[in-house]
Amino acid sequence: MSSITTRRFLQTAATLVGGLVLAACSKQEPAQTASPAPAAPAAAPAAKVYVVGTDAAYAPFESQNEKGEIVGFDIDVVKAVALKAGIEVKFVNTPWEGIFNALTQGDRDLLVSSITITDERKQTLDFSSPYFDAKQLIAVKGDSKIAKFADLAKLKVGVQTGTTGDEVVTKLQGKESANVKRFESTPLALKELEAGGVDAVVADNGVVIHYVANNTGSKFKTVSDTSFAAEQYGIAVKKGNADLLAKINKGLADIKADGTYDKIFASYFGATAAAPAAAASK
Ligand code: ARG
Repeated sequence: MSSITTRRFLQTAATLVGGLVLAACSKQEPAQTASPAPAAPAAAPAAKVYVVGTDAAYAPFESQNEKGEIVGFDIDVVKAVALKAGIEVKFVNTPWEGIFNALTQGDRDLLVSSITITDERKQTLDFSSPYFDAKQLIAVKGDSKIAKFADLAKLKVGVQTGTTGDEVVTKLQGKESANVKRFESTPLALKELEAGGVDAVVADNGVVIHYVANNTGSKFKTVSDTSFAAEQYGIAVKKGNADLLAKINKGLADIKADGTYDKIFASYFGATAAAPAAAASK
């Protein structure tokens, strides 16, 4: 739909609920959830619905439940931020490999996907202030002799393509290494570990810990390493979208100040986020 037609369409449909209008326009996008619209006077025009892209195969941060709804820590954070910011959001499952492009092209207004804020990414998109501390963590079979990251130098290691896990393993093994096994999603890499196709998987600690705890049949254990750098997740907007970024940052500050963030954090990680480092060690 061209933007002019879209505008006209939205104007005509102004009395309809914004979420329904946009849902009707969207093409082959499957699971989507909309946060409740903030109460608005009946006569108000339909508000813009901000489309949030997320690679929903990254529990407990973003995943799809049995009903196909996108749920998780990141989702709750963005819903709470949106409520404070007075904006409406809907989440659209977006494969990690195309996620940054989708933002640049304007197919998504926001990204929340456990995205580590990196200098390289900052060149092509803008990040909110950090909302979560993370670190890489190694998953191996329970009987593995692997004890530290350097042990992976010559072994087959599974990573999700284009993640910070991919980056650190590629750096350790060298760009030409054929032993870095790249997967579309982190769960696929972990399945391959179970099948014996790789010796280890390197991914974000929260996701690895969650997977190991929820798939006890896989008999994995985790190996941490002090050489992994501290990472922080940010919500991404298109480069230069200062308006939206300001709203998001204000909303984030508000939910941190009034205890909403801590409540969400505790509901997923069972402890208070009062000390930022707590996030990384959970
Ligand atoms: N934090 C890592 C990165 O930014 C991995 C994020 C992957 N997220 C996801 N939803 N698959 O590279």
